[in-house]
Amino acid sequence: MLLSGLSTLNYRNLAPDTLEFPAGVTGVFGENGAGKTNLLEAAYLALTGLSDVTRLEQLVQSGEKEAYVRADLHQGGSLSIQEVGLGRGRRQLKVDGVRVRTGDLPRGSAVWIRPEDSELVFGSPSGRRGYLDALLSRLSARYAEQLSRYDRTVSQRNAALRAGEDWAMHVWDEALVKLGTEIMLFRRRALTRLDDLSREANAALGSRKTLRLELTESTTPETYAHDLAARRAEELARGATVTGPHRDDLLLTLGDFPANEYASRGEGRTVALALRRAELELLAEKFGERPVLLIDDFTAELDPGRRSFLLDLAASVPQAIVTGTERAPGAALTLRAHAGRFTPELDMAEVGV
Ligand SMILES: Nc1ncnc2c1ncn2[C@@H]1O[C@H](COP(=O)(O)OP(=O)(O)O)[C@@H](O)[C@H]1O
Ligand SMILES: [Mg+2]
Repeated sequence: MLLSGLSTLNYRNLAPDTLEFPAGVTGVFGENGAGKTNLLEAAYLALTGLSDVTRLEQLVQSGEKEAYVRADLHQGGSLSIQEVGLGRGRRQLKVDGVRVRTGDLPRGSAVWIRPEDSELVFGSPSGRRGYLDALLSRLSARYAEQLSRYDRTVSQRNAALRAGEDWAMHVWDEALVKLGTEIMLFRRRALTRLDDLSREANAALGSRKTLRLELTESTTPETYAHDLAARRAEELARGATVTGPHRDDLLLTLGDFPANEYASRGEGRTVALALRRAELELLAEKFGERPVLLIDDFTAELDPGRRSFLLDLAASVPQAIVTGTERAPGAALTLRAHAGRFTPELDMAEVGV
């Protein structure tokens, strides 16, 4: 995949502009607050339609009502124009001028690596579940669909539990078991490959401890219906569904211990990078093309081993955009970021100096 052009209008602090990116590595460097992270966030949104902000309004430049990003994406030998319009709580997507839904955008187009990824390791189960669900939703449209049906069913069932509608439970349970079972089976299948790829990546990062990924399941496909019935009284009392894949965790074990409780910050950072490389490899396998890689703040990575892993990874894809407070070595293009603007640095050899 190649992102040949990125346009933004009223996006956070970015000045309206169209940037062109060559194949290979583009290094973006500049001081804090220059807009480097915002640029990668805009690129990720335009490439995938995805954003993890809680309110889309945050992405719109203060004082403005609407924002817009556009990606010119080359994949499978053809060019498509992907546009995202953002308004008050609204997101409108177009591909080549035609309105589409998020699931219709190419799902393997980008991977975003950032310092906050350590939260995957040290943060709450919901963050790890989010990583898994986001990845599986990109690997399978069916998974994305069933997951959102499942989440809706949980909310409706919770409302029924709070209203004490004991008589309606068998209907909700039936729907929950059907959707939840499919989700659990899908997760189990995908985890086998994800476990292998993460372990390989963690070893490639020089870790001497073996990384293992497992699901901690609150129930199983075989016992789901039974487990729901067994906890009916408790769920009615609490007014919440406590059994099902929305309560699962992705257990990360490093050596003999759970990484979230025992890993050092550095080990955790390594595990997070391993998860991102596994994501990249899985998407590449599934879609037959390597995603555009967005690496935010490689200079925040002080460990030389992890830093060179990041730069090697950037060199392993057709195209990467790498930000930092210093210039990324070996870049095909270097952009200097300042106050939301990005200016190409001239290659001194080319200018004849
Ligand atoms: N909606 C917005 N409107 C205007 N400015 C914003 C908006 N959201 C964030 N910013 C500004 O963007 C800047 C941060 O940019 P960022 O991309 O995180 O910088 P960095 O180069 O350090 O990665 C901050 O100064 C912040 O105030
Ligand atoms: Mg930043």
